[in-house]
This record gives sequence, structure tokens and C-alpha cells, in this order.
Amino acid sequence: MPKESNTAQVFDGPKEKLADTLPGVHELIRARWSPRAFSDRLVSDADLKTILEAGRWAASSFNEQPWRFMVARKSDPTAFQKILSILAPFNQAWAKKAPVLFIMAAKRTFSHNGTPNLYAIHDAGQALAQVFLQATALGLHAHGMAGFDRDRARKELDIPDDYDLAAAVALGYLGSPDELPEQQRQSEIAKRTRKPLEEIVFGADFGKSLRL
Ligand SMILES: Cc1cc2nc3c(=O)[nH]c(=O)nc-3n(C[C@H](O)[C@H](O)[C@H](O)COP(=O)(O)O)c2cc1C
Repeated sequence: MPKESNTAQVFDGPKEKLADTLPGVHELIRARWSPRAFSDRLVSDADLKTILEAGRWAASSFNEQPWRFMVARKSDPTAFQKILSILAPFNQAWAKKAPVLFIMAAKRTFSHNGTPNLYAIHDAGQALAQVFLQATALGLHAHGMAGFDRDRARKELDIPDDYDLAAAVALGYLGSPDELPEQQRQSEIAKRTRKPLEEIVFGADFGKSLRL
């Protein structure tokens, strides 16, 4: 039995860009989105720890838990600048406002026998999804980034060869879209869209929509 009972909590998170889902989808999932406007408000270490803890409990092939988080808080300017400088310039422009940046790496081989773990990045993605949702539950926002320099990240963060670079992430509280350049401001306030279910859910024949 867990030491404390984790009673279900009522969702009290952000609601500014709720996904227009079918009925029944959890509010937490509807509420998560990827802003570029972050405020100056710092993230407490307690919240940061809770968010990473949520990632820790993701499922993974062989329970390998291949994910590693390399985290920089604004309170440590050297570490923050190190990760910020690795981001692509178009991401740096907005991510510099976020109080927390991190890079995720994924161990490419299984620890129990050294064979390639073809699910390393997949499982890191699962951990990241849990991180995103936990951040949302705590009233924060996270924004994943593929736009960063992998070679520099490996070199400057001293990431061993046995680890793949998964994603960079900016984490913090929502800021005002008015602080963004016009094109980004437009996408910040635009409605969120997704492919229709019929386009992504098939029966046993690829490409043939499953009627639900
Ligand atoms: C792995 C990954 C990489 C991404 N890379 C970038 C990026 O480099 N720059 C950026 O502005 N957004 C990036 N995004 C954000 C996506 O564009 C965003 O998640 C997508 O448009 C859906 O919007 P939503 O998260 O608000 O629902 C990335 C998201 C993920 C998950």
C-alpha cells in the first residue's frame, strides 16, 4: 500500500485553449497545450520535482526507464544559458522567458543484456507525456522542442554515446501572447487542431477507417 492515499483530485488547471474533443476526454488532456509565451514566475522546486516524478512512473519496455532529464533552472544562470544556447535560434527567442529548460536523453541499450532498445525514444516520449500532463495539473505549461543542436547538446552536456537525444522542453507559467512577434502571437491564440479520428484509426486493414 502507498504511504499516503492518492485520492482523485478535481482538475483545477488551465483552461485557455481547451481542445475541442469528443465528450468524455479528461479535462487534463484537453487543457494541455504548448505555449510560447511564458511569464517570469518561477517554478518551485517542489512542483518541478512532482512533475519529474510523474515522468518517472511512465511505462517502459522491460521497465528499463531509458529516459534521463537534464534540467536547468533560471536560478542557475550558467546551467540555464548552457541549455538555452543549444536550442535553435527560433526556439531560443521565446524559450528564454521560461524559468525551466530541460533536455531529455534516452539510453539506447537495455541494461540487463546490452542489446539495442528499439523503444528507448518511444518510452522517453511516454515519460514526457506524463511530465506534460502533470505540469498541466499543477497549472503550468510545457513546450517540447525538436529544434536544438544535438551534437552540441551531446558535447556540452557530456551525454554518453549510449544515449540518444530525445527532446528539449521549456516549462513554466503562461505569459501574455502580446509579448510575442506577430506570427507567433497568431499561432498562440489560434484554435488547436487535430486530424480526424477516421484518418488515424483503422481496422485490421491499414488505411481503412474503423467505424466506431
Ligand atoms: C517532440 C516535439 C518537438 C517539438 N518541436 C518544437 C519546436 O522545435 N519548436 C516549437 O515551437 N514547437 C515544437 N513542438 C510543439 C508542437 O508544434 C505542438 O506540440 C503541436 O503543434 C501541437 O500543439 P499543442 O501541443 O499545443 O497541442 C514540438 C512538440 C513535440 C512533442
